[in-house]
Amino acid sequence: MDNERRIVLTGFMGVGKSTVARFLASLLKCERIDLDAFTEQTEKRTIPEIITTEGEARYRQIETKNLRRILSNKEARIIALGGGAWTIEENRRLIKEQNLTTVWLESSFEHCWRNIRASKRERPLAKNKQQTQRLFDERQRFYCLADWHFIVKPDLSSFEIARKVAEEVFSMKFN
Ligand code: S3P
Repeated sequence: MDNERRIVLTGFMGVGKSTVARFLASLLKCERIDLDAFTEQTEKRTIPEIITTEGEARYRQIETKNLRRILSNKEARIIALGGGAWTIEENRRLIKEQNLTTVWLESSFEHCWRNIRASKRERPLAKNKQQTQRLFDERQRFYCLADWHFIVKPDLSSFEIARKVAEEVFSMKFN
């Protein structure tokens, strides 16, 4: 097994980054950090509060500041990004500088949209289907810059996806 490698999970809202990161960390028995959760803890506000009161541009600055802090914690080998973080050039540079491997969890827009609708989490940048679909389309060109690419089919559970990532990216063997 590859004991050194650190990864970031990226992909659109609703694809399941946080849940896959949780299973992956438990399979690898290592620490993980969720950028959105970290931001909410350190800012003592929810992300929707930050975006609605200060705007998306300010939110991105806060997100980058928190990403820097997370990246400096070498114990956290699995990092789940928020869906927009990898689309920011500075964030991609910081991640590459630290030699992390990036994994894109890709799924269809309809699959992500179903999960967004079913989730209790408020997502200020995914309020209506048409705009969200546009955002999804615009972001594909950034996501495909990731080092690895896993297609998340709707019939795969988050645990199965985590296992695939563990097998392929971390060379873990399962019976
Ligand atoms: C965002 C995705 C959210 C969160 C914020 C902005 C985006 O995270 O970071 O609402 O721009 O795609 P999830 O991808 O975990 O929903």
